[in-house]
Amino acid sequence: MAHDQNLVIREDFSGSCLLTINRPDKLNALNRETILALNTAISEALADSEIRVILLTGQGEKAFVAGADIAEFADFTPAQGKDLAAKGQELLFDLVAHAHKPIIAIINGYALGGGLELAMAAHLRVASTSAKMGLPETSLGLIPGYGGTQRLAQLIGKGRALELICTAGMIGADRAYEMGLVNHIYPPETLMEGAHKLADAIKKTAPTALAQAIKAVNAGLDQTTGLNAEIEAFGACFGTEDFKEGTQAFLEKRKAQFPGR
Ligand code: COA
Repeated sequence: MAHDQNLVIREDFSGSCLLTINRPDKLNALNRETILALNTAISEALADSEIRVILLTGQGEKAFVAGADIAEFADFTPAQGKDLAAKGQELLFDLVAHAHKPIIAIINGYALGGGLELAMAAHLRVASTSAKMGLPETSLGLIPGYGGTQRLAQLIGKGRALELICTAGMIGADRAYEMGLVNHIYPPETLMEGAHKLADAIKKTAPTALAQAIKAVNAGLDQTTGLNAEIEAFGACFGTEDFKEGTQAFLEKRKAQFPGR
């Protein structure tokens, strides 16, 4: 299917490439076209023998990615909701998590919902000191559907993950660093330099060994059961009045009044 090539911009460096998600007017929210464009760009970089490390960031100063595109799914049925999570996981989040080359997420601003899930699917994360992170889906009558219930719990522990998910709260970069959610934090002006430094260190190691290391780490932390449960639960949310109210309230820029059914 043809899609807008400008949704993801690629810049090549020596041994690495930077992919920039380019939808800044919607805070780089992940709609279908953006997910497809990312799938293409990441697949191409993985197949390119010149590329050892992939860097991923968001266009503009405000956001890495502010989540899945709420406007796109607000009127979905439970079956469509389940399909959205299943297809998204397959096309993008699993592709990233199981990539045979390290992928570094550069969190330059908001990383919310699907945005934080994308950063968590990556192998390493660096963040700007001004970044804000969270999984706010429960404030929309939803749950994270792109691996967030599994990867957040794995990275920061069950109690902290459930607190962030159940309060729909946001944390700053310092707290994210303390909890091990991000590997490094940098002031906005040196964020790119820090990310490239990390990529340069990785480039000195053996590509075949990196691929095997990622494979072994992933095998030991296999989340297939949890990810499938998440897809089911995400779909079920689409059949509730809470979901209808939560998404309408976001689109109408007002506070949701959840009926609880
Ligand atoms: N899906 C669709 N559109 C989104 C979006 C998303 N996840 N996040 C932001 N946008 C859009 C806004 O609707 C707005 O579009 P408009 O200018 O056409 O009205 C534009 O991006 C700018 O966002 P805005 O909300 O005006 O910026 P802000 O500075 O007031 O607030 C956020 C920033 C990140 C706090 C706010 O955009 C937000 O809460 N986004 C949704 C986060 C979320 O719930 N993500 C999980 C989705 S499952």
